[in-house]
Amino acid sequence: MKGVILAGGLGTRLYPLTHVTNKHLLPVYNKPMIFYPIQTLVNAGVTDILIVTSGPHVGHFLGVLKNGKELGATHLEYAYQEKPDGGIADALSLAQDFADKDSIAVILGDNTTDADISEPVKRFKDGAVVFLKKVPDLKRFGVPEFDPKNPKNIIEIEEKPANPKSEYAVTGVYLYDNNVFDYIKKCDPNFAGRGELEITEVNNFYIKAKKLSWEELNGHWSDAGTFDSLFMANDYWATQKK
Ligand code: G1P
Repeated sequence: MKGVILAGGLGTRLYPLTHVTNKHLLPVYNKPMIFYPIQTLVNAGVTDILIVTSGPHVGHFLGVLKNGKELGATHLEYAYQEKPDGGIADALSLAQDFADKDSIAVILGDNTTDADISEPVKRFKDGAVVFLKKVPDLKRFGVPEFDPKNPKNIIEIEEKPANPKSEYAVTGVYLYDNNVFDYIKKCDPNFAGRGELEITEVNNFYIKAKKLSWEELNGHWSDAGTFDSLFMANDYWATQKK
């Protein structure tokens, strides 16, 4: 399995911090944010990694990550998303050549977690796996609705629901087989009303094909796209180290 970290976008919710650099290079306690998802992949044995990035500060990544060796990557490459506001699924479409028929573990570059995903990575055969976490502020996330007869099955994922149908957020950690690239081609930029190709629509295509399963992410998880979540991520990792 190969690894893909999505580190594009303009990070507008973090202006003026993201006038300084790309969101994913901002500090989370003692490291640039993107070190955390790289570590999660490397700890799971996924060391062949693509970083997809965009926006005005793309050049900053090379000087920080270099060839990824210091972080345990055996191979690190970069792709440039021409539309920084194209959405997560648009960014992921750039990983097709890199994936080269293999399956991929995908992590959003602003997600930090201490969960170990090595077992699901080892077990993965085909379809898609989403990692879920109970959170208090569900309306900020993709939220699954479970089949009342069999909670192993998700019947739909709603992006930023007004009335969340479960207690779980879909985190930005996903495993996909190579069909993901065909599903992305079918995505509608109006799916969630923000003009972006949404990863939630991709996951719903897998649900319709009865090919989506889920795991609970065992450990701390936080995204860092807003001042509050960035602060919470810093607070968690700083406290962990003491
Ligand atoms: C994105 C996804 C959402 C997911 C979240 C996790 O949200 O669209 O489904 O729950 O990442 O961090 P965004 O950061 O684009 O608002």
